[in-house]
Amino acid sequence: MKILMITSEAFPFVKTGGLADAVSALAIALHKCGHDVRIVLPRYYTIRRDSLELLNAPLKINIGNKVYSTSIYKTTMPGTTNRTDKIGLPVYFIDYEPAFGRDGVYGSKTESDFRDNPFRFSILCNGVFELCKKINWYPDIMHAHDWASALVPVLLKFYKRKEQFSQVSSVLTIHNLGYQGVYSKENYPITGMKWTEFYKAGFEDWDNINFLKAGLVSADVLTTVSPTYAQEIQTAAYGFRMDPIIRNRKSDVYGILNGVNIDVWNPMNDNKITANYSVKTMDKKAENKAELQKRMGLKIDSTIPVVGIITRLTDQKGVSELFGPTYGCVYNMCVDFKMQFIVLGSGEKWCEDELRNLNSKLPNMGVYIGYDDELSHLIEAGSDFYLMPSKYEPCGLNQMYSLMYGTLPIVRRTGGLADTVEQYNEKTGEGTGFMLNDLTPRSIYDTVGWAMYAWYNKPEHIKKMKIAGMKKNFSWEMSAKKYEDVYKIAQNKVKE
Ligand code: ADP
Ligand code: GLC
Repeated sequence: MKILMITSEAFPFVKTGGLADAVSALAIALHKCGHDVRIVLPRYYTIRRDSLELLNAPLKINIGNKVYSTSIYKTTMPGTTNRTDKIGLPVYFIDYEPAFGRDGVYGSKTESDFRDNPFRFSILCNGVFELCKKINWYPDIMHAHDWASALVPVLLKFYKRKEQFSQVSSVLTIHNLGYQGVYSKENYPITGMKWTEFYKAGFEDWDNINFLKAGLVSADVLTTVSPTYAQEIQTAAYGFRMDPIIRNRKSDVYGILNGVNIDVWNPMNDNKITANYSVKTMDKKAENKAELQKRMGLKIDSTIPVVGIITRLTDQKGVSELFGPTYGCVYNMCVDFKMQFIVLGSGEKWCEDELRNLNSKLPNMGVYIGYDDELSHLIEAGSDFYLMPSKYEPCGLNQMYSLMYGTLPIVRRTGGLADTVEQYNEKTGEGTGFMLNDLTPRSIYDTVGWAMYAWYNKPEHIKKMKIAGMKKNFSWEMSAKKYEDVYKIAQNKVKE
């Protein structure tokens, strides 16, 4: 099959969260299965032009009665040309200075959500069709990811499905329903859509336009990144107002769990950690713990349990219940439990400030505010527990990384967390982590307390769980097979 992934993020070029990991890893897995997979994304400011190849001649994108003259750059996805019989996976970048020549993917420190995002991502989505013509390559599947590329299935359904695009089907994957791309209605013309389609295509949202909603209405098939989240988004509690539409299309919704890119996340050959290890050489994990304690300015002591967290500091991740001033449970946990607590994160300002404040008061807390890929690997390898009390979690990657690194997850039972972690059985020592149901400071405190109890009193259970987690298989191969099936379903819909 010929598959074009349209995305606003792809690892290792640009990443703000798990979307980047998931899109690239899925593309690579499908490429390994023999499909002709390609990726297209914007050439942001931070992606250096001199690392890419410029395709000759500008790419002209018509939107309304205006023509935007953009350029196309190209490269090959790292790691996809290793085998001699393989042609690498092409990655295309749409370069257009007024849209992408600035710091930030969706926003910046001073403007958290760029006002002209409808224009920016309309350049991407309209550009996709011109790109195909330019390279004379027409996919069977256009696979869009989240709101920023959700316009692609809409354009395809209403205007573009003709001539060379007549057999193209669309799949839209929801990585996070909490972000929908809602903007003032004045921006509608820049999408390239006509007012006659405004309601039909699903843009209307309380007199605004909603990109994701239009995608949910228009894509041939919808997927999301775990089976549990596929159910949750059909309920009012998790549906972010989209649940009626999703329920209405429930026979077109598939939940496929993300995998882990084991070329990047694998304790046996991760070059960002101090000592590599496997189930058989688990003792070596201790060297990572010592290095992590040192790096974070904590007492180097293998007997004290280290609880780590790596996160965007945003409400989705339970940060109010953890760090909310006078409300969150972290202060009490650090005072009451003999443990060390390590946080790597960036995001909402109140939360960054509060973390600095807590860090100055608590000798057993280590905080790094910012984005640091290397440190994130060391935290996965060096921690004993990994905390992820998300309010909602479409899939979640860190709990899977944690399981693979012998670091026991403490998670809320929701979305992909519920699909990947098994609750500790204190009688048998079975399970792979600790789970809480309700998101309150008290329940986080109690569940972390439970894990600390097990650490000090049931070391044999801790060891058994670590081994059980490390033996789990989260390879992308299995998920890629499920996407193949979904693509076939999407193709049949267009043929019908
Ligand atoms: P989400 O996409 O909702 O943020 P995921 O668990 O799917 O959640 O993926 C988050 C990814 O981003 C992980 O690979 C995690 O390691 C990474 N990450 C998040 N915050 C940071 C940070 N401050 N520094 C380094 N990596 C981070
Ligand atoms: C989103 C979700 C996260 C998921 C990731 C990749 O950012 O919040 O749960 O793992 O996308 O699909």
